[in-house]
This record gives sequence, C-alpha cells and structure tokens, in this order.
Amino acid sequence: MTDSNFNADTEGFLRDLQQAFRVGALLRLVLSKYKGAEVDLNRITIRPVQIKEQKLLSFLYEYRTNHVTKNLTIEDAIAQFQLWFGRDFHNAHMITDEWETQLSFSKKGKVLINKNRNKNSTPTGAASVDKTSSAQPELAHNRSKLRYVEQDRPYLHELGITDANGQIIPAMSRKWKQINKFIEVLSTAIQQTGLDKCSELHIADFGSGKAYLTFAVHDYLTANLGVKTQVTGVELRQGLVDLCNQTAQKLSLTGIKFEQGDVQHFSAQGINIMIALHACDTATDYALNMGIRTGAEIIMCSPCCHKQIRPQLKSPALLAPVLQHGIHLGQEAEMITDGLRALLLEAHGYDTKVFEFISLEHTSKNKMILAQKRKTARDNTEVLQQIAAIKAFYGIQEQCLETLLQSEPHK
Ligand SMILES: C[S@@+](CC[C@H](N)C(=O)[O-])C[C@H]1O[C@@H](n2cnc3c(N)ncnc32)[C@H](O)[C@@H]1O
Repeated sequence: MTDSNFNADTEGFLRDLQQAFRVGALLRLVLSKYKGAEVDLNRITIRPVQIKEQKLLSFLYEYRTNHVTKNLTIEDAIAQFQLWFGRDFHNAHMITDEWETQLSFSKKGKVLINKNRNKNSTPTGAASVDKTSSAQPELAHNRSKLRYVEQDRPYLHELGITDANGQIIPAMSRKWKQINKFIEVLSTAIQQTGLDKCSELHIADFGSGKAYLTFAVHDYLTANLGVKTQVTGVELRQGLVDLCNQTAQKLSLTGIKFEQGDVQHFSAQGINIMIALHACDTATDYALNMGIRTGAEIIMCSPCCHKQIRPQLKSPALLAPVLQHGIHLGQEAEMITDGLRALLLEAHGYDTKVFEFISLEHTSKNKMILAQKRKTARDNTEVLQQIAAIKAFYGIQEQCLETLLQSEPHK
C-alpha cells in the first residue's frame, strides 16, 4: 500500500477489524476489485475460525476455477492487509454483528469509507435490551449459532443452497436449517469426545445421497477446526456418486470422495465418525454395525422406514383398539426398533441419546440417534437383559443390528 492511501480511514478500518475480531463480533471481510499479479484470483473472503483453542482468520482465495484456504493470526492478517489495501485490492467490505463498512480505493489513490448499521444484525428489540447482563448470553448464543455454517461457503452455492450472491435460495431454506442443526449437534459431540484434538479424522457417510451433509461435515472439519479430514460417502446410486465426485473436483476439494456401494457389503476400518442419515430400513443397522465394529468415537444416524420389526410385533390384547390404526402400529414399530438400536449401542460401549433432530418438509424423518463411545468400559449385563425382556414382551424373533453384532467380531 502506498503512503498516500494509508490515511486515518484505513487505520480506523483496521482498528475496527481488530476490535471486532477480539470481541467475537466479526462476521466476515470480503476483499474484491483485485488488481494484483494473480491472473485468476477474483476475491478473498475472510472469516474468524477457532482452531485448536486458537482464534484465527480463515482466508478463502476464490480463483476462477478453484478455491484455496489459508489460516492466519490477526497480526499476520493485518500486516497482509497493509500490503494489499489500495495496491492489490481496491475494495474491502467488513461485516460485523452491528456494522457494515466499505473501504474503497480510487485509481487516483483516494480512500473512501462508508459505514452503516448491519441491516441483518440482532433484532432491534434484542439490541435495545442487551444493556442488561441477562441479555448478553442470548446475544452470544445467537452469534455462535450463526457461525456453525457460513452462508458464503462455496459448496453451498455448488449444491444449490445459495445463489450467486451467497443468499439462501428460499426453496432450500429447510435444507439450510437441517445442515446447521446437524453441524451444531456434530460440533458438540466432537468436543465432548475430544476428536477436535486429533490431527486427522476419518468419516464415513452411508447413504450419502446428494451429499449436502457430507460436504458440510468436510467443510466444517477442515475450514473451521483445521483438522485433516478424509470423508467417504457411500451411496447405492451411481448417478449421485458421479455427481458428488464431480462437485468435489470442481471445488478442488481433497479429502472427500464418493463410492458406489451397498452399505450391506461395504467394509471400513479406522472410522472416527460414522454417519447414516435417512438410510432406508435395515441399511441403518448395517451402518450402525460397521460404526461399532470399527470403533467409531461418534455414531450419528437418523433412521427411516422401520419395516423389519413391524410384522413381528405381538402387543397385549388390551392395546388392540389402539393399534388397530395402522399409523399407531407404525409408530410403535419405529419406537421399539430405535429403542432397541439405542440399547444395543449402550451395550456395546456407547452413551446414547435419541432426540428430535429437525423436521424436513413433508417427512417425519426427524429422529436422531447420537452415540458417543465411552472412555471406560462398563458392565453391560443389565442392558442385555433389558433388550431380551423387550424382545420377549413383543415376541420379536429378530432385530437386524443385534444379529449382525452377534455374528461378527467387533472391537
Ligand atoms: C433419503 S436419502 C438421504 C440422503 C442423505 N443422507 C441426507 O440425509 O440428505 C437416502 C439415500 O440412501 C441411499 N441408500 C439406501 N439404501 C442404501 C444402501 N443399502 N447402501 C447405500 N446407500 C443406500 C439411497 O440411494 C438414498 O440416496
């Protein structure tokens, strides 16, 4: 940057940036109008990330055909901006919780600054009451909630969740909510199991479909946590596998790949996180079995189509008037199937939770089974007895996961 550009406005802009970064109010900084030597560079999007307890700035270099990410400390970033502003980049747009500030450099070296309230900031009601100490956690919570997934991530645009301006396409808003909720749940589990301290993680996503969540996991682990990540999506349909591999290639992503295969015949080793979301019927059992056998620290599944148990259920005669309605029978089969799966996970060394995940339009597939591997072994006699008693009560002859766990060796 030339001395003539380094005026009070630029210094003020950099001071505001440092301050916003320090208090956790910085949302993003976009550098554009690039005039530097790299032919294909369009712009750089910068946002705060937390990597192994260190707050850094993640720089996403957006080239014409690919993207590259680099993480810098705030001090190194400021030094870089002092070199770039007015020489390589002629526009810097900073967005914080409260402000949007535009810093522009004209061809003649004039510096213009334009600062306005962020229209999308915390609602005025919340902002006006945040003087009280009780309002602060709420604001902090909102901030962290916003940060699980940033709207400007390139994969979101490639998968049709955002438009060219990084705005959520209205028809995809439910998917967007689902991605955020999923990453929120995953992020908590990762911290609780200590996986965020690992230098490398292996993830398998069974029944990856169009892979919205597969790409989200890869992006979160690599860009937000800075962990070297290998994600494998396994999918029955070759067309989807090809499409997802093309998308990964287009985004120049390494560490994510898709394989055609049936989870029933797939064999995997050394998986840290096993994901199976809406994999049909007993495909969920095969995925759970694989997760347990491979000793995954985290198992996340959202089951669907509970067909195996339903025809086997023998309920007490007293309940016949209730269960004469097919929908109730279906709900009962679902509850017993997933209840048994959760107990089997408990019996095989996992702390398990079953809870509502997020509902998608026109579907009730909103249940999540989240299992985290215990650090110390526990006697499983009582849980195995509970499983046997429930099976006997309902006259259940076979449950796929139980059969798989009994027939195959596991860790
Ligand atoms: C409802 S989609 C869910 C996609 C994705 N997991 C999500 O939640 O957005 C279920 C996917 O699982 C795949 N699938 C079903 N059974 C499978 C199996 N046995 N092995 C591999 N993939 C399977 C289907 O082809 C489909 O793409």
